[in-house]
Amino acid sequence: MVDLWDVRREYTQGRLDEATAAADPLTQFHAWFEDYRASDPLEPNIMTVATVDAQGQPWQRVLLLKAYDPQGFVFFTNYDSHKGQHLGDDGLACLHFFWLEKERQVQIQGRVEKLPRSDSEQYFHSRPRDSQLGAWASQQSRPIADRAALEQSFEAVRERFEGQQVPLPDYWGGYRVRPQRMEFWQGGAHRLHDRLEYVQNGEQWVKQRLNP
Ligand SMILES: Cc1cc2nc3c(=O)[nH]c(=O)nc-3n(C[C@H](O)[C@H](O)[C@H](O)COP(=O)(O)O)c2cc1C
Repeated sequence: MVDLWDVRREYTQGRLDEATAAADPLTQFHAWFEDYRASDPLEPNIMTVATVDAQGQPWQRVLLLKAYDPQGFVFFTNYDSHKGQHLGDDGLACLHFFWLEKERQVQIQGRVEKLPRSDSEQYFHSRPRDSQLGAWASQQSRPIADRAALEQSFEAVRERFEGQQVPLPDYWGGYRVRPQRMEFWQGGAHRLHDRLEYVQNGEQWVKQRLNP
């Protein structure tokens, strides 16, 4: 057995207090996200997205958060991928942000909806052309014989769309996660961390502290 019992550190960077935390979780998320972004991490918008398949098996993968506002949190992907199959048109997802340098994590649970196609088109066309071609070349999450087959697929779509705008594939677009619960975690000394949970109750958010 590899024993990691002595691998440990104390978390001492800050406190999260219900008296000063924002009344709504989006404002709190924005404050923490901007604070993390200001520390100049390589990819500030990295998150883990969990979905559950038809057998109840949880899956997770890293995705990029591409937008957020009071409506929810947006990411883009292939609708035929594993996650797309789990989510369908209105599945449940859990987003997780882990900002080690700040000793913080944020968890967001909610129902997803597909973005209107016009919004996905707008984002798709803002991407570098090769990324747009990549969305055509990859049948995300399906088996493929080898790397060469993927590169041939990319070359084929490059030729196919030569000299024209790359259209948005039917199977590609955005999902918006509409939060129903959000939790903010700030590491504390002696493992006495601060946890604040916001739960949606009609139009209101109810905020409460949780035991660490
Ligand atoms: C840093 C990073 C960013 C990623 N961003 C995305 C993304 O925005 N959209 C996406 O579909 N996959 C993204 N991926 C790939 C996913 O982690 C995953 O492999 C892919 O979406 C297939 O997942 P699935 O088979 O569970 O559907 C990213 C991976 C990493 C490591």
